[in-house]
Amino acid sequence: MFTVQHLLASDHLIAALIPLVLLVLSLHILGHPKHLLPLILGPARPRAAVPAHFSVERAAASYAQYARLARAELAVMRTAYARLRWAHRRAGYDLGYPRKLARADDAVRTNAVVADAVARLAHRAFPDELAPGGGFLRPGVAGDLGRVREALKHFVRDWSEEGRAEREAIFGPVLEVLGEVEPARRESMRVLVPGAGLGRLAWEISQLGYATTANELSYFMNLALRFLLSEDCTRAPNQHVLQPYASWFSHQRTADAVFREVAFPDAVPRLSDRFALAEGDFLALRAPAGADGYDAVVTLFFIDTSLNVLETLEHVHSLLRPGGRWINLGPLLWTSGGATAMELSLEEVLALAATVGFDVAPPDDGTKCARRTVECEYTADKTAMMRWLYQAEFWVGTKR
Ligand SMILES: C[S@@+](CC[C@H](N)C(=O)[O-])C[C@H]1O[C@@H](n2cnc3c(N)ncnc32)[C@H](O)[C@@H]1O
Repeated sequence: MFTVQHLLASDHLIAALIPLVLLVLSLHILGHPKHLLPLILGPARPRAAVPAHFSVERAAASYAQYARLARAELAVMRTAYARLRWAHRRAGYDLGYPRKLARADDAVRTNAVVADAVARLAHRAFPDELAPGGGFLRPGVAGDLGRVREALKHFVRDWSEEGRAEREAIFGPVLEVLGEVEPARRESMRVLVPGAGLGRLAWEISQLGYATTANELSYFMNLALRFLLSEDCTRAPNQHVLQPYASWFSHQRTADAVFREVAFPDAVPRLSDRFALAEGDFLALRAPAGADGYDAVVTLFFIDTSLNVLETLEHVHSLLRPGGRWINLGPLLWTSGGATAMELSLEEVLALAATVGFDVAPPDDGTKCARRTVECEYTADKTAMMRWLYQAEFWVGTKR
């Protein structure tokens, strides 16, 4: 039988006591047990903050990784084709499908010239944020291929001849209202365009003579616009080429349509005393110094990106001078699933605008400010077999 005497005389007790004695001694020397943990587990490594989704870190990493991510997608497509049984693979071969995949690879190379240049510009413009070892090179920063592709399509919509028709449909009503002001008065007037994307509308407004500020939160957009504004990157019209439709084979009538090239920019923008950028969150913007507020705030395809549309409307209102105008054109495509606090109908948004303090011109107003529906598209592929048509709403609200 195993007795207490046995235990006291056994090696087991000594084996159990040694760690205990060591622990007591360590506590005596080092104090609180929390000081022991780093010794046992090693020094705590600072946890790298995950860069915010639209941050310069993530955007730059995404542009830099564009070619790799796009080729990885193509590799999956190649594998799917290679898995076909021989007779079907042969039929695909006769159709030129392997050649089509090779052309997609060429298109990645074409687009990567722009994407890589944007990534390099990001490095020059944000040396602190993107220092070696920072987010740009950190393996943990996953690139967002979809956002890069979206920005490349915005080069086409905003800054190419191919995008002209789409631009005219949606910029037209806005520019007509602003064009009614005497040119001499425009120079002293300030316009803000929040959520400006690649900035073409804001630039067009500045070309009318207004002191215009383009504001944008996402660095996927900001870096792309900087690429156009930079004399190092963009010196002449149609200097760059993209194959913007090559990543989606659906709804295409011919392979040539998939791989067609689009040159950009049709006009070369530059910052000036009439055209400024305010990168960051619109909700953090303040009224311009030395003024009662902006003379106009123009929201294009913007208000429905708000997580709280009331906050957005209140902020537009607060940034305007009394009598200033809020010009809006866009759909109501809310981020669903509870991300947006209130997903409102047009009727509800207009009621909210009145509550916040806007007099919105009615449909029978008889002027260019009349509220109306504008049928339009958004970064569409003109030759595709599918169209996504918006019945966007245009209105002009005057701050009471
Ligand atoms: C649907 S896009 C429209 C872009 C541009 N107005 C156009 O028509 O091409 C909405 C834009 O608003 C930007 N955005 C969303 N919330 C913002 C905020 N709080 N501050 C600034 N920009 C914001 C997004 O990054 C996005 O580029």
